[in-house]
Amino acid sequence: MKNFWNELNKPIFILAPMEDVTDTVLRQVIARCGKPAVFFTEFTNVEGMFSKGERLVSQRLRYTEAERPLVAQIWGTRPENFFKAAKKLIDMGFDGIDLNMGCPASGVMQKGACSGLMNNRPLAREIIDATKEGAAGIIPVSVKTRLGFRAIDFSWITFVLGADRSCAYRFRNVQSPGTLGQAENSG
Ligand SMILES: Cc1cc2nc3c(=O)[nH]c(=O)nc-3n(C[C@H](O)[C@H](O)[C@H](O)COP(=O)(O)O)c2cc1C
Repeated sequence: MKNFWNELNKPIFILAPMEDVTDTVLRQVIARCGKPAVFFTEFTNVEGMFSKGERLVSQRLRYTEAERPLVAQIWGTRPENFFKAAKKLIDMGFDGIDLNMGCPASGVMQKGACSGLMNNRPLAREIIDATKEGAAGIIPVSVKTRLGFRAIDFSWITFVLGADRSCAYRFRNVQSPGTLGQAENSG
């Protein structure tokens, strides 16, 4: 596997994925004026990637060479779509795939996606496995999640870390009950 994560100098300077903000245009501007070590796409729904609205959804996956290394961040609930998405993202030339398991927006939480997966470990596990199977060791798969749902939860951290040691994991703060249904853009 060509794992760009292993080639980066530490600390790693990343432009965080931001819905409706970090599209290809913004990334190109940032690449010119203060290029980070890694770029991410906005989070992209895997169900949408294989729906009638595929053309609209795929706008999120447009990029230029100036934005490398570029990780496609995806979210959803159906493991088979993660499998297909991983294959498609490899064909599209992405350098890595990131699984969003941290967004608290009410719309995704209600579907049981993103940080909703923190309360459904069997499905979280299936999604990680399906994505890694689709990625076939060609590009790295990472998970962006939180340290816990209501409080720091070491069993979740252990669960994610235990899913596969060849995955890269990035953790951030705890899911706050106060953000549920409010922080629509605070993935
Ligand atoms: C407008 C906005 C949109 C965001 N969209 C996403 C997203 O699509 N995927 C994601 O993983 N995080 C998303 N986030 C969260 C950020 O990536 C980041 O984790 C968060 O802002 C905390 O970063 P900080 O610790 O550097 O402040 C979003 C945040 C903001 C403010």
